[in-house]
Amino acid sequence: MSTRREFIKTSCLACSAAILASVTLDSCVTRSLVTVIQTNKDELLVPVAKFTNDKGEQLTYLVVQTSTLPYSVSLYKIAEGYSALKLVCTHNHCDLNANKERLVCPCHGSEFDKAGKVLTGPANTNLVRYEVKEESGNITIYLKKILG
Ligand code: FES
Repeated sequence: MSTRREFIKTSCLACSAAILASVTLDSCVTRSLVTVIQTNKDELLVPVAKFTNDKGEQLTYLVVQTSTLPYSVSLYKIAEGYSALKLVCTHNHCDLNANKERLVCPCHGSEFDKAGKVLTGPANTNLVRYEVKEESGNITIYLKKILG
């Protein structure tokens, strides 16, 4: 016979496992790390198809890397199209962690939204956001064209 305490303990373990599983699945489904070839020193070319994973699921953002850039770029789907952000914190240049809703700095806790706007300090400058153009199944990120 199960006591009330055992029931609560079992329920809590089950809830914890469910929450952990949903967080793990969420992070797998919503993002993908992609390595692209830098077409020239000022542009990155990302196939739109990278937003669909092997299971046919739509991803909400990508983390784009190249063998030549010293930093990564996040590429979010937003209402107006795409938002490409340099994944470097404007407070003290730490690499940022991206998730489906925001970008978080592991050094001092600054947070930014998908458009690169500061949500939480100590950073007080928005992220570097690049101009983006979608054409012929590709998204071009213009590294020399910074949006204001
Ligand atoms: S370097 Fe990002 S908050 Fe300080």
